[in-house]
Amino acid sequence: MKKFNITVPVIMKTEDELNEQERRLLAEAKEATFRSYSPYSHFSVGAAVMLEDGTIVPGSNQENCAYPSGLCAERTALFFANSRYPDQAVTILCCVARDTSGNFTLRPIPPCGGCRQVMVETEERFGRPMQVMLYGTDGIYFIPSARDLMPVNFDSSYLE
Ligand code: THU
Repeated sequence: MKKFNITVPVIMKTEDELNEQERRLLAEAKEATFRSYSPYSHFSVGAAVMLEDGTIVPGSNQENCAYPSGLCAERTALFFANSRYPDQAVTILCCVARDTSGNFTLRPIPPCGGCRQVMVETEERFGRPMQVMLYGTDGIYFIPSARDLMPVNFDSSYLE
């Protein structure tokens, strides 16, 4: 028997420590929460992805009365970015949420498993890592790549 641990490298920054690019991305993700359509959960999520040429594409969660038909903010942003700019790699994804009282969450907001799977495939598709920036008012987590958030993941190589 062998045992091994998988560790996730995380850098935590305060808002003051963000560089100009990260600040712009965060501002777009925050703004996107105000375009969330979340009449069922009242949980407004905003995401923004930065492309390699510096273009920022925002997205927000879009719910539906048939619950599974809705989509998370991260996938809304990623799918739109990949359909509008199919040749541009995604370099950073930022995710932000406002809770049912309308306040930004204290804890950094983590993407769900389905979004992580899509993020990993986006990395694979463009052959480069996507940095993940998770915002909370208590601190902002930076994870170097989506794969770090989803180790032992299923990918297209298993289909071969
Ligand atoms: N949601 C996101 O948009 N992103 C996440 O990372 C977690 C959850 C959405 C889905 C649903 O509209 C609402 O938040 C409550 O789960």
